[in-house]
Formats: sequence, structure tokens, C-alpha cells
Amino acid sequence: MSDWFRGRKNNSNGDENRAPVASGGVEEATIRTALKDVRDPELGRDLISLNMIRKVAISGSSVTVTVALTTAGCPMKHRISGDIVDRLKMVEGVEAVDVDFGEMTDSDRQNLMTSLHGEAAELAPAFTEGSKTRVIAVVSGKGGVGKSTVAVNLAAALDRAGKSVEILDADVYGSSIPVMLGAMEKPNVVEGVIFPIESPTGLKFISMGNFVNEGQAIIWRAPIVNKALTQLMRDVYWDEPDFIIVDMPPGTGDVALTVAQMIPKAEALVVTTPQADAARVAAKAGKMAVQAHLKVIGVVENMAYAECPDCGKELRIFGGDGGNAVAEELDSKILGRVPIEPDASGEPGNALYEEDSAPARAFDEVAASIAAVKVRKKLRVL
Ligand SMILES: Nc1ncnc2c1ncn2[C@@H]1O[C@H](COP(=O)(O)OP(=O)(O)OP(=O)(O)O)[C@@H](O)[C@H]1O
Ligand SMILES: [Mg+2]
Repeated sequence: MSDWFRGRKNNSNGDENRAPVASGGVEEATIRTALKDVRDPELGRDLISLNMIRKVAISGSSVTVTVALTTAGCPMKHRISGDIVDRLKMVEGVEAVDVDFGEMTDSDRQNLMTSLHGEAAELAPAFTEGSKTRVIAVVSGKGGVGKSTVAVNLAAALDRAGKSVEILDADVYGSSIPVMLGAMEKPNVVEGVIFPIESPTGLKFISMGNFVNEGQAIIWRAPIVNKALTQLMRDVYWDEPDFIIVDMPPGTGDVALTVAQMIPKAEALVVTTPQADAARVAAKAGKMAVQAHLKVIGVVENMAYAECPDCGKELRIFGGDGGNAVAEELDSKILGRVPIEPDASGEPGNALYEEDSAPARAFDEVAASIAAVKVRKKLRVL
């Protein structure tokens, strides 16, 4: 047995050396073509191009597929197995499918990670100028106005609109995304490459909150925070989605500057509530983004109103016209007004508004406006 493969489950037909040719009408080539439809959920690419299918054995109508995982304890193992079985059972002539797992050798794994992630670079490809990925930083000077709520619900709305989207929780001290999305587990790390966590609703994200034990406070000085954040932008396998939504910490401090400096192509979405003081501080965050040469893409007024349960009228619970004030100050526009809706309760996994609810519709509008923006690529001077 070649050394790429360790710990193999010994439940195949035992005929390791048998040439994998067709018998009973099923061709190996047909099986391999079908396997191109099965993706590794973390790597986002198909098992054939990832060179993870190491053997296809066919005996009559039974097929055994041997898959080399990046690590034996890969958390996606059962999902991959289920996807293979589901896909191959659709192939004519296939009645039974068995999946064996092994593990890549160190050098196979290194080669795969280098080919996917590139050599040690300053930033993952998604954050670089040449990538199609648009990075939207959700900012506000003030705490508690709903940045994280906007970040996750905007991501969900973009996902509903058919865009691929991932979330970077840049609020290192006060990360709330893992709890909001109900996924507190530690991420999978292979050869120094960190894989985003997939929440139960299918949104992928990464957060420092997933590296520390629940309830544990992060007490770091600014340079360490910046280093951690830089690492998340460099060592995470961001699969160049259409959008990366960055949930920023409150304020206009160091983290905001790091993000602005490291990702000059990032666009800032400013969140405010209607109150005048929130608007003043939110505008400051927007101005800082402008000074750091980020483009302000628009303003979201969160907790803008409550819908009267009896008459359906907008009740402006908080006085003020914060959204318009911020938009005017930043020479930008309001992309959405999100009503107060107590369902975004902050309970684990309960931060996403139900599709078609009033707030979800507001986020759909914001997503549509953002997606409609044409991004001008910088022209290369010849
Ligand atoms: N539209 C809304 N209706 C009702 N509650 C909301 C709404 N938006 C946010 N909230 C609630 O307000 C609280 C603060 O929201 P969130 O954590 O999103 O704010 P934040 O700006 O990210 O806070 P921080 O500055 O601490 O990071 C949460 O409990 C959240 O559930
Ligand atoms: Mg937050």
C-alpha cells in the first residue's frame, strides 16, 4: 500500500490490486465524472480536482470509493461520505456504495494547502486587490447599535440573493458572531491553514471567539490583537467568495485602522440608530474610514422604528433622524431602515431574522443595493 494512506478502514472487498476496470456495466470514468459533483464542504472544490479520490473499486453494481482526507479526524467526514453515496446512487447501474477513508501524507497535505492557499503571503487571496471578493466592513463608532446583527443578517440576505458570502468577526475583544450563529466549536486547522466554521444555517465565518473557551475574556494589548487579526486575514482559507462581511468592533481604534490599512479595497457600511448621539459617533467612524481611504458604501439605520401591532404604522420609538444625518454628513445614502424586532434576541443561533419578516426584507434591500454597486477595478498602468 502506498504511504499516502494510513489507517484505512478494512471493509472493502479486500482485492487491493485488482485493476479498477468496469464490470457489470459501470465504468470507473463514469464514477469519477459523477464525483466531480461532490465538493469538500470546507475547501469548496470537488473531490477529483482536490485529488482526494485515491481509489475507485467496482464489483458488479457495488462501488467502493477511497477518499484521502486532509486529517483523519476531519469533522466533515460524514458529510463527505453521505454526499458521495447520494451522488453515486444516482449513477445508472450502481446499487451499493461504500466509502473508505484514509489520511493524506504530510507532503500531500502541504502540497494541497500550498496549491489552495498560496505560499505564505501577507494576505489570503480574497483580500487582495486582484480578487473578485468584495469586503464590506460594518462599522459604527458606538457600541450596541447593532453592527453584529447587521453583519450576520446582511450576510444571510446576500446568501438568499444567491451570492457566496463569508463573515470575519474582527471584534476580537467582544466577539459575538459564534453565539449569534450558534456555532461555538473550534475551527479545523490543517498545516497552519484555518478553515472557517459553518454555522447550522450554512453561513461560514471565523472569529477569535472560536479559539478561546466560552466565557474566557481576551486580555491582549493592541499589537497582539492586530497580530491575531492579521493572522485571520492571512491564514484562514477564504475561498474568494463574492463577499466577506467584516464585523468591526465599536470605536475608531486600532482594529479599524488595521483593517483599513490591510484591505484598502474594503467598503464601509455605517450602522447607526436614530438617536442623535449615536449618529454623531457613527459619522465619526465613517469619517475615519474615509480618511483611511475606504469607500463608504452606505448607511443602515437600525432600530429605526417599531411596527404598531394594531394599525401597522411606523412608531418612531427613538427620536431623531440618525440615518439621514449620518448619510448627509458622509455624503452617502441610506441603504436600509431596519425595524425594532425583538426576535433578534441574542440567544445562541437566534440572531437571524426569519425570511420575509420586516427586518429580513430590509436586509434584502440593503443586500440588493450593495450587490448592484459596480466595483471599478484599478486600472493597471502599462
Ligand atoms: N433591529 C433590532 N431590533 C431589536 N433588537 C436589536 C436590533 N438590532 C440589534 N438588536 C439587539 O441589540 C443588541 C446589540 O446588538 P449587536 O450586538 O448587534 O450590536 P453591536 O453594535 O454589534 O454591539 P457591540 O458594539 O457590543 O459589538 C443585541 O441584543 C441585539 O439582539
Ligand atoms: Mg458587535
